Amino acid sequence: MMNQLILGDCLEVLKKLDSESVDLIYLDPPFFSNRNYEVIWGDKGEVRSFEDRWSGGVEHYISWLKERVEQMHRVLKPTGSIFLHCDWHANAYIRVFVLDKVFSPQNFRNEIIWKRADTIKGNFGQNKKTFDSNADTLFFYTKNGDYTFEELYKPYSEKYLENFYKHTEPETGRIYRLISMIGPGGAAKGNPFYEVMGISRYWRYSEAKMKVLIEKGFVIQTRKGAVPQRKQYLDEGKGVALQSIWDDISALSATSKERIGYPTQKPESLLERIIQCVTREGDSVLDPFIGGGTTVAVADRLNRQWIGIDSSVAAIKVTEMRLQKKQTDIFAKPFSVQLHKYDYDTLRYKDAFEFEKFIVQQFGGISNAKQRGDLGLDGKTQDGIPIQVKRSDAIGRNVIDNFQSACKRYWGIQSRDFELQNKTYGIIIAFSFGKGAIEEVARLKNQDGVIIELKKVDEIIPIEKKPVLALKFNDLGLDAKNQREIEFIATAESNSGIEFFNWDFHYLAEKGFQADIMLDKGGKQSQKFKAGTYVIAVKVVDNDGLENIEVMTLKINGVVSSH
Ligand SMILES: C[S@@+](CC[C@H](N)C(=O)[O-])C[C@H]1O[C@@H](n2cnc3c(N)ncnc32)[C@H](O)[C@@H]1O
Repeated sequence: MMNQLILGDCLEVLKKLDSESVDLIYLDPPFFSNRNYEVIWGDKGEVRSFEDRWSGGVEHYISWLKERVEQMHRVLKPTGSIFLHCDWHANAYIRVFVLDKVFSPQNFRNEIIWKRADTIKGNFGQNKKTFDSNADTLFFYTKNGDYTFEELYKPYSEKYLENFYKHTEPETGRIYRLISMIGPGGAAKGNPFYEVMGISRYWRYSEAKMKVLIEKGFVIQTRKGAVPQRKQYLDEGKGVALQSIWDDISALSATSKERIGYPTQKPESLLERIIQCVTREGDSVLDPFIGGGTTVAVADRLNRQWIGIDSSVAAIKVTEMRLQKKQTDIFAKPFSVQLHKYDYDTLRYKDAFEFEKFIVQQFGGISNAKQRGDLGLDGKTQDGIPIQVKRSDAIGRNVIDNFQSACKRYWGIQSRDFELQNKTYGIIIAFSFGKGAIEEVARLKNQDGVIIELKKVDEIIPIEKKPVLALKFNDLGLDAKNQREIEFIATAESNSGIEFFNWDFHYLAEKGFQADIMLDKGGKQSQKFKAGTYVIAVKVVDNDGLENIEVMTLKINGVVSSH
């Protein structure tokens, strides 16, 4: 059930996840602000959600969020943590009315302030009477008092080094600071009392350990009569334990390589820090508002299992492409994408066993654990009626006859006194059924009272045609550097409407589609090429998340030709 991208309102999806099944939830919900900077993708799923939470002001937003956070609390393991990312618009309400209520104030761990940037492009006008707002809030809560936590460190600042690490060992060049060896709490805490370099005190170390430290040259007396101190080398220090103000991670710049093209994308280093702090390898991470996929991209890289949910098709598809692009090596971990519609080709050419299992489960039945066995049947209903799934169209008479024999054996094993009359003998699921099959089913019923039900795949799951796509090019001629500029125009049609186009200008079939440009709404791109052969691929995504790909090979050598 892990490594999944799921399209849908996270409330509905969360309800279907098992209780106490994830180690970390990071959520960056849509803020409570106004439409101008809140609607990111603009597709149906996202806009519907926007209208859902905006209509009644902040109270409405809070109850919208609380309902979802309650589900998150349920799916979190007893040792798990949650990080809720928000900003000044609603952070006060969220802490008091959502997190304290659902997780309880005892389980509040930190309010982290993430300083996004040093400079703000903003209002420098004469009427400006507020401070620039350059921070987000991350609320860290846990489910209980016992939770995974790995202390993280950041490098010492210049100022810190200047103030503390003032000494250099002449013989080695190692930089060190001096730290106190006085035993805190004196005799009451059991510290030993003895003399070191003429100074008697309660010390932190036993006399034997002190002797070793002195022999190694770690103990220094800066002048006669001063209390001896111990050297702490800079190259042995871990850095400064991370505090609750995070000012060392910048928001993504407009030109960052990580950017996939929308405003609220969070930097990978932020997620890296959170995931490393409260999970271990193999643990699971859930992001119910996955957006551009930052959380799952990082979780995957850090060998955590993951689930990402979003109500926007664009978000799910962009995340899918981002993962495909990252996962180019042979160790890539497989993942699945759950949309609301399925396209015929993808289903039909899926692995046969996977397909049978999936259809039986979607039908509400119990699938066979193994591919072979159970008399060639693929599963059964909750009431024990056998099911066979066929990945083909226009099923013929012989399939019905073979199935009837399999059912006969099945019922013989299950119970000797099976009542034929008015009871379903078995169910066959296929894309469509031929005339022969339909006649045979009728004959069996009339002659022998054997009832075999025929179900079409599209009665169980919604099937749609994938979008139709065409790709053309125009030669725009040579530029001053003798490079040829080519304009590419993709046109597409789909019942649900076209969402966006993605381009791979160095397509290699064995590597799969690796988007160079994502989220192109218009389907038009131009690129410059030197003489050579190029394989260009364009992928279209429609409003159901179904996709199609078109590949063109261009030969550029004085003239341009394609095939
Ligand atoms: C602020 S963005 C998340 C950005 C993400 N952290 C990133 O780094 O890319 C919020 C996301 O929540 C999604 N969303 C809005 N309402 C939702 C709902 N009810 N269920 C699931 N996702 C929803 C939006 O489509 C949007 O992608």
